[in-house]
Amino acid sequence: MSIFREPGSRRGRGRGRTLVLLAAGALLGIIGVVAFNTTLEATSTDEFCLGCHNHGIPYKQHQLTVHYTNPHGVVAGCSDCHVQHEFVPKMTRKIEAAREVWGHLRGVIDTDEKYLAHQPAMKARELARFRASDSATCRSCHDVARMDLEAQSPKARREHARLGSGAKTCVDCHEEAGHAALAPATAEQEQSFDF
Ligand code: HEC
Ligand code: HEC
Ligand code: HEC
Ligand code: HEC
Repeated sequence: MSIFREPGSRRGRGRGRTLVLLAAGALLGIIGVVAFNTTLEATSTDEFCLGCHNHGIPYKQHQLTVHYTNPHGVVAGCSDCHVQHEFVPKMTRKIEAAREVWGHLRGVIDTDEKYLAHQPAMKARELARFRASDSATCRSCHDVARMDLEAQSPKARREHARLGSGAKTCVDCHEEAGHAALAPATAEQEQSFDF
């Protein structure tokens, strides 16, 4: 007797069904991966963040920094500084963002007054994240090993030469890198602040 069954036999039909199921599984898997990546990318754009963070601060403060505009046009967006690139920290931050959705639903920062009242708590949480990661996102653009220290001011050179000690991290000295202090530099900017 042949070990191969006729195509119409029960075993043949069973195998056909398994193949269809496997193909459907693979297709669903591919759709899942594409949807996952698309969601990750969509939730990493400035437009997404500004969907909620659209009041005077922190966006206007951000626009006053060289990270928003500079002669070279190499700029940093919200996620470049606030979301680490590695998979696990990135996912952890996305999960932590559940607090933001909940806060948004409760309207905790939906006016400039509320924002200002809530700012110290948010700032403290954010600075703690930077300290915990040793400012990993800053370092993804600023490679300290390749800083031309000779080209920097004596003060910057002195401070940066000590970076390896672990005593201080970027945001300890450059807290305002992403959001300049509120004092507007010009009358024009003063007018554009809506609080
Ligand atoms: C659904 C609205 C919403 C979106 C979208 C959103 N945020 Fe927020 N975010 C909030 C709210 C509300 C808070 C205050 C949460 C609280 O304290 O309860 C917050 C807080 C923060 C904080 C302060 C730190 C902290 O832990 O509270 C940072 C930094 C931040 N958001 C950055 C971002 C970035 C970057 C993006 C885009 C990748 C983003 N947010 C997208 C609503 C949002
Ligand atoms: C160059 C890096 C950098 C960029 C780009 C940046 N941030 Fe920040 N952000 C920081 C740092 C550092 C802090 C903590 C110190 C502080 O509060 O200023 C912070 C603090 C915050 C906070 C906490 C509350 C506050 O006002 O201090 C929020 C919310 C926030 N950022 C949202 C955003 C959003 C939205 C964008 C994009 C429009 C953005 N950030 C772009 C570095 C950055
Ligand atoms: C996406 C890349 C990117 C990220 C992320 C980034 N930077 Fe920058 N940073 C730049 C570029 C590019 C410049 C130079 C802008 C110019 O002057 O042309 C710059 C300039 C600076 C300067 C000089 C400021 C000045 O006034 O000349 C400081 C300080 C700085 N960054 C600190 C930080 C810190 C701290 C962080 C993290 C909170 C950070 N950067 C995150 C790209 C980045
Ligand atoms: C102990 C304090 C300190 C720490 C920590 C520190 N810096 Fe600085 N940094 C300075 C000082 C001071 C300057 C000079 C500022 C000035 O001249 O106004 C400077 C200047 C800079 C500049 C501009 C350099 C230039 O000549 O154009 C960049 C970019 C910069 N820092 C990035 C970083 C990054 C990224 C980190 C973390 C890896 C970091 N710094 C950590 C103190 C520090």
